[in-house]
Amino acid sequence: MYILSENNSIANTFLAQLRDEEIQKDRMRFRRNLERLGEIFAYEISKNLPQTNKVIKTNLGKKETSVMKEPPVLVTILRAGLPLHQGLLNYFDTADNSFIGAYRGVRDSKEDFDIEMDYISSPDIQGRTLIICDPMIATGKSIEKAYHAMLRFGVPARTYIVGAIASLRGARFVQSRMPECRLYIGDVDKDLNSKSYIVPGLGDAGDLAFGLKN
Ligand code: URA
Repeated sequence: MYILSENNSIANTFLAQLRDEEIQKDRMRFRRNLERLGEIFAYEISKNLPQTNKVIKTNLGKKETSVMKEPPVLVTILRAGLPLHQGLLNYFDTADNSFIGAYRGVRDSKEDFDIEMDYISSPDIQGRTLIICDPMIATGKSIEKAYHAMLRFGVPARTYIVGAIASLRGARFVQSRMPECRLYIGDVDKDLNSKSYIVPGLGDAGDLAFGLKN
């Protein structure tokens, strides 16, 4: 698991601003900070993607350089994942894109919700690099459902799971249930409350980015 907050970087400033209840009042800034984290994750993940050598012709000569072999497929769980997705897309600008509609359904125990999915649109992902993003990995269940739903469209060569904040339980769940996936997280928080919100977390990422819903 790669955790941005384990190193000193500007990513920690973006995470701090995302959590700050005063700064959260500015919805545009909240979305933009998620987007900026998406850009940082894209850069970090790009270091591990297959590369190929390409000779580039400048107006003064030629330069052999290493470039990404092929763009990834970016997968987002609507609606909260959209700003993080946009950040990834800002860097992986020729990426293909998949969208999943998921929501918390009925409780399957005192603390847990079942995750319902009702919409999915995706290209073929056979042999591709898949990057699934969800800003808040609370229980890890929606990521697991999303990943298995994506396998209908092929078997990816490699899968990255990206989240701004994960609970310890969510991160462990993803690691144990999807050991073939690589997890990239901004920060990991210890607790989940009785409504499966990450504590201290930041609140409801979808509401903070896009407003309250009925
Ligand atoms: N989704 C959120 O937006 N916040 C959480 O803390 C957990 C899930």
